[in-house]
Amino acid sequence: MMTKFWLLLIPVLWLAFPVKVAPQNATPASVYEHRADHDPNGIGKFYMGREIAHVMGHTGASWLERAERIAEEKPDDVIKNFKLRPTDAVADIGAGTGYFTFRISPVVKQGKVFAVDIQPEMLAMMEQRKKELKADNVVTVQGTEQDVKLPEASVDLAFMVDAYHEFSYPREMMQSLVKSLKPEGRVVLIEYRGEDAAVQIKRVHKMTVAQVRKELEAVGLKWKETKNFLPYQHFIVFEKAKV
Ligand SMILES: C[S@@+](CC[C@H](N)C(=O)[O-])C[C@H]1O[C@@H](n2cnc3c(N)ncnc32)[C@H](O)[C@@H]1O
Repeated sequence: MMTKFWLLLIPVLWLAFPVKVAPQNATPASVYEHRADHDPNGIGKFYMGREIAHVMGHTGASWLERAERIAEEKPDDVIKNFKLRPTDAVADIGAGTGYFTFRISPVVKQGKVFAVDIQPEMLAMMEQRKKELKADNVVTVQGTEQDVKLPEASVDLAFMVDAYHEFSYPREMMQSLVKSLKPEGRVVLIEYRGEDAAVQIKRVHKMTVAQVRKELEAVGLKWKETKNFLPYQHFIVFEKAKV
């Protein structure tokens, strides 16, 4: 008698306390936040507490090739610290004019360099330079704001120099980048030091190590080391986490 009474109560309890099951196609809550009150150098869109910067337009291309960059950003030391093998497939994400791409091309003679950018004008400049230098192992790739557009499991090392802070969809970009990495693939992020007041760069163009780690670990990358050989920038190395 008592058991039957409890059975009768089940539909009543179900109506009073429905189990909330998300529909299969539910859109996950946005990882981005928009604020009206923000830094004029940023786009007013925030990711994990950081404001995203405006994309540097192609009309500023000559600034990327400025002579002072050699002393400021030490490209040869950067490339030495990538520890590349001649057969590696490297991806330069947000490659711009190819400042790093064309320095890496001869280092990976039997491999290749994917030079990814979203601005067709930047890709055209790189295509022109590729012809001039006969850099046949450079592959220019038109990416989108959310996708690196690289083949799955094809990249040994992906790197970003002064670019990640302006990705307007950093979560989606990094998720697609992780898919493009080989199982032992590495990611290196080079950004101006956010913790260092002596680095005279606009706030939204700098990043702290803590922020970089928070954002890249959120897509499943594993922090390996932070190297301090650059005058103004961090050199932060991540590995693809084993699954
Ligand atoms: C400041 S430039 C740096 C270029 C280059 N890495 C260098 O160090 O000379 C940043 C570049 O990132 C590109 N960029 C911005 N958002 C991007 C995205 N979601 N995917 C690929 N490239 C992007 C821009 O078009 C621009 O060419």
